Amino acid sequence: MKKKKISRYTVTTALPYANGPVHIGHLAGVYIPADIFCRYLRASGKEVLFIGGSDEHGVPITLKARAEHITPQDVVDRYHYMIRDSFEQLGISFDIYSRTTDPVHHETASAFFTKLHESGQLITQTTQQYYDEDAKQFLADRYITGECPICHNPRAYGDQCEACGSSLNATDLIQPKSTLSGNPPVLKDTTHWFLPLDRYEHLLKQWILEEHGHDWKTNVYGQCKSWLDAGLHPRAVTRDLDWGVKVPLPEAAGKVLYVWFDAPIGYISATKIWAKEHATDWEKWWKSEDSSLIHFIGKDNIVFHCIIFPAMLKAEGSYILPDNVPANEFLNLEGDKISTSRNWAVWLHEYLLDFKDRQDVLRYTLTSIAPETKDADFTWADLQAKNNNELLAILGNFVNRTIVLTHKYFNGQVPAHAPFTEEDNTLLKEIAEYPAKIGYSIEHYRFREAQAEMMNLARMGNKFLTDREPWTRFKEYPEEVATILYLSLQICASLSVLCAPFLPFTAKKLQNILKIKEEKWEKGGTPLLSAGHTIGAAEYLFAKIEDEAIAEQVAKLQQCKKMQVSQTHHTQPSKPDVSYEDFQKMDLRVCTILKAERVAHTKKLLKLNVDTGIDHRDIISGIAEYHDPDTLTGKQVLMLINLAPKDIKGTLSHGMVLMVENENGELSFLSPSSPQPNGSIVK
Ligand code: 2FM
Ligand code: ZN
Repeated sequence: MKKKKISRYTVTTALPYANGPVHIGHLAGVYIPADIFCRYLRASGKEVLFIGGSDEHGVPITLKARAEHITPQDVVDRYHYMIRDSFEQLGISFDIYSRTTDPVHHETASAFFTKLHESGQLITQTTQQYYDEDAKQFLADRYITGECPICHNPRAYGDQCEACGSSLNATDLIQPKSTLSGNPPVLKDTTHWFLPLDRYEHLLKQWILEEHGHDWKTNVYGQCKSWLDAGLHPRAVTRDLDWGVKVPLPEAAGKVLYVWFDAPIGYISATKIWAKEHATDWEKWWKSEDSSLIHFIGKDNIVFHCIIFPAMLKAEGSYILPDNVPANEFLNLEGDKISTSRNWAVWLHEYLLDFKDRQDVLRYTLTSIAPETKDADFTWADLQAKNNNELLAILGNFVNRTIVLTHKYFNGQVPAHAPFTEEDNTLLKEIAEYPAKIGYSIEHYRFREAQAEMMNLARMGNKFLTDREPWTRFKEYPEEVATILYLSLQICASLSVLCAPFLPFTAKKLQNILKIKEEKWEKGGTPLLSAGHTIGAAEYLFAKIEDEAIAEQVAKLQQCKKMQVSQTHHTQPSKPDVSYEDFQKMDLRVCTILKAERVAHTKKLLKLNVDTGIDHRDIISGIAEYHDPDTLTGKQVLMLINLAPKDIKGTLSHGMVLMVENENGELSFLSPSSPQPNGSIVK
């Protein structure tokens, strides 16, 4: 196929929802690879616009606001700035980090819809949707819960069951309930605007299946193919909701654009805002055939960026389509799926606080395990190993040895080299190949491979120094040592150029030590330091990460897991209703513990002798882990005294002491707030 002429790159990253902070899964999947790509392109002299921003609409944001008694705007304000700042601190080099509540975005999305509407690219359909008669509101997506028809999870949402992952229609739910009033909703007619995707099926098939079979990642191509094979249908692009971009039609009061319709338009509005700030034209980035549009996303966003958004762009008519959508798979954490709601995540803002000035360690680790072809796993032990055994032991060690030796033997000046031997020339030739080799991998979205190549150059330098042992040869052969250090210094300088897309903070440090300025990519393969140039003092590029720092992080995660156990425990769905008669069958009384002792050969059991007011009897209770028998005598407790007797470890246990379980699984007694006669009835 004819190679397209590319004059500029429009690079977008999925807009994270502004209802929570960013975690390592987002970074490994989207933002770090995109940043490497853009930094590389810029260093290669290409014109690049690197776009990010917050996705600030959608139902979950309104639900969070409701739960916290604040407005959706308060929610997105809180997270937008936090996300923006943490990206910046990690060195994600966006040209703009925008947001979808920006008025320019509302105008842009609204105008986009109007253009589709006026040119007959949308259809309307009236369907029945759930409506809450108390709240007087249609119930979009997550405003409705009920039992999943597939796995019978009692808390499935109107659009999805998180227990079994099925995507659902609200009308599929068994016993649906409104999350607003808790009442069963009624079905009511509502009209929505739909993008008839079926109209674009042919075009999309041709574009993806025929033109991009060879240059899109197989995971992306595969997902698109299965969607296209299944056939495309009209998709609703509006919702009954009051948070979002208002549908710009008089008959659409109370309706907003569906969040997945407005969010990708956010890339365009961000471009407009940036262009205005830079007094330049925005349109060429989106409408010129010689612009290359690349979307960096996670795999859950593939259909939106490869099928729906391209159909929207085609329907509008004046836009180019993306050249590539290098979506990644998912990152797991210590063997488990990352989950925001379960707090099973490493949050970027927390990492930045806990590991100050160690942005490159996280960047390096996440790139080295990037889920490019399949899901990958992050562990803290791996981050420690990558830092200590690779960054520090290879890259840091090589640079440090070179700088220290240059100061020791040549007063911190780049020595003049002796005539090169054949071996020296081979080394120079090998160095010269690195920019193209690393660049090729980056251009093919193989960032793990690219970074590993960069480290191979450091390895090569390290080995060169170790093999040539300048420290044993200086006395006898100072000229040979001059050449060894001359070459080692050139490798350091090359590394300062070639590590920059991956490790921008380290690259800066290294340039400061070498006292050189930032250079273009291809210069990374050529000698950059001339004889006589004075370098700065040695400085460590990396510091060791000790076991304690890692243990602390692991403990923090385990804590989340424990909290989680308690959370799921507290949010257990209620049991089926019982009648008042059923309740009355239970004989609940205040009793006093007269004696308590451990049950031999068990860890958990105590034998309690209690005064029920009716009799003195024995009860076996599983509380030994939490209560010392010596502290229990005289304690008043609540008991179910008519639980059928049961033989436990040779004792006939008649009744049950009522306990409450706390977030750590510990059991505490329930007691009357003032002493009561034994046998008093609890009702
Ligand atoms: O999945 C998500 O987190 C979405 N907020 C991504 C939106 S990408 C784009 F379309 F804005
Ligand atoms: Zn389910």
